[in-house]
Amino acid sequence: MTQDTLGFIHHFEPGPDAARPLLLLHGTGGNELDLLPLGRIVAPGAALLSPRGAVSENGMPRFFRRLAEGVFDEADLRRRTADLAGFVAAARNRYGIGAPLALGFSNGANIAASLLMLRPEALAGAVLIRPMVPFAEAPAADLAGKPVLILSGAMDPIVPVENASRLADQLAAAGAAVEHRILPTGHGLSQADINLAVDWTRGRALPSAA
Ligand code: MLT
Repeated sequence: MTQDTLGFIHHFEPGPDAARPLLLLHGTGGNELDLLPLGRIVAPGAALLSPRGAVSENGMPRFFRRLAEGVFDEADLRRRTADLAGFVAAARNRYGIGAPLALGFSNGANIAASLLMLRPEALAGAVLIRPMVPFAEAPAADLAGKPVLILSGAMDPIVPVENASRLADQLAAAGAAVEHRILPTGHGLSQADINLAVDWTRGRALPSAA
């Protein structure tokens, strides 16, 4: 079911566990269908809410504008983060779901990190796959124990490990319960990411449906 409503083209998949949905946030050039298989593996039974990024970069959907690779348009990022928080609130109301756990990859992980910093009430927590620091100066945030898993690639050509570690430090300083794992891989999603995301999610924000 893909609808052009609530401000974002999106897919919503109901599940028996409506109280603990996943917010799926794709990478650059992806769409609302990309992460559905991953979401079903990470949290079987969870409702899945999956918007398509509203920015087009040469036809490739993204969640916010960038000036160059790894150089973000921070004013646009702030605006798009507010839009996404509004979408999440409207979708919770429409579909009767609880605050979601974000599961974001690359560009989607970056807007999830921005959501955590600017609109922490929008999320129950987050799994951030290959994220980077979204703002040159971290906004003050109160993340009071929110669970966050960060998965980085030691050979990632887009995100240096030092950058991802800085993000982990910023979120932890804001009070989040951060686990940062560095995998022997590049920027792409690997089986190890999936396994770690499954194990972490079972133990924390979402109950296992098994
Ligand atoms: C971004 O622009 O969000 C990051 O560089 C990751 C990417 O989308 O390539």
